Amino acid sequence: MSKITLRPYQLSDVDDFMQWACNSEVLKYILLQFLIKVNSSREEVVSYFKQVVINHPWYQAICLDGRAIGYVVLETQAGKYGIDRGRAEVSYALGREYWGRGITPIALRMTLSSAFHKFTNLVRIEAFVRLENKASEKALQKVGFSKEGVLRQYAVLADGECLDISMYSILSTDPILN
Ligand SMILES: CC(C)(COP(=O)(O)OP(=O)(O)OC[C@H]1O[C@@H](n2cnc3c(N)ncnc32)[C@H](O)[C@@H]1OP(=O)(O)O)[C@@H](O)C(=O)NCCC(=O)NCCS
Repeated sequence: MSKITLRPYQLSDVDDFMQWACNSEVLKYILLQFLIKVNSSREEVVSYFKQVVINHPWYQAICLDGRAIGYVVLETQAGKYGIDRGRAEVSYALGREYWGRGITPIALRMTLSSAFHKFTNLVRIEAFVRLENKASEKALQKVGFSKEGVLRQYAVLADGECLDISMYSILSTDPILN
């Protein structure tokens, strides 16, 4: 049976990363689309790895039998006045051919458990989801995230399109669902 694990990305994962990430369906709803394109060169992806991925403490590869097929990233907050330190944001993506197998919920459960365990001040993990991204909303709900509402016209794209964003969160006191 295939095994899902999380581990830090390594430079040697670049080719696997490109295989699933440089895909229009994968990039459609995620901020990675502003950094990586369908036709990004290997050199550009290596540069992204060196600048962002490798040195990020919580940029984890979602692995199937050891091979990187997606990512889950946790961004902890510091904030100007220190009042944001109880909060972190999670984001994630998975190669197209692996969708619909419950892999992201597994990766999210692992991330939540280790984050709430490691950061004792952490009380809330939140996720921002494009309103149209029903698969992502479903993956979050499976794990126990609650929808708090819709942030109307929260982001404005270069072409002027305004995006509505669903706000999800899970608290350290909430159960992580199986
Ligand atoms: C969102 C994403 C991470 C989900 O990961 P996953 O491992 O496929 O998640 P799941 O296996 O739990 O499947 C998602 C669920 O949504 C459902 N779903 C998919 N499209 C749907 C739609 N249009 N409407 C309603 N439900 C939908 C699936 O049927 C599945 O539910 P089920 O298990 O009850 O059948 C994955 O689709 C992905 O990588 N998308 C591109 C990147 C992205 O959008 N990241 C999230 C940014 S917030």
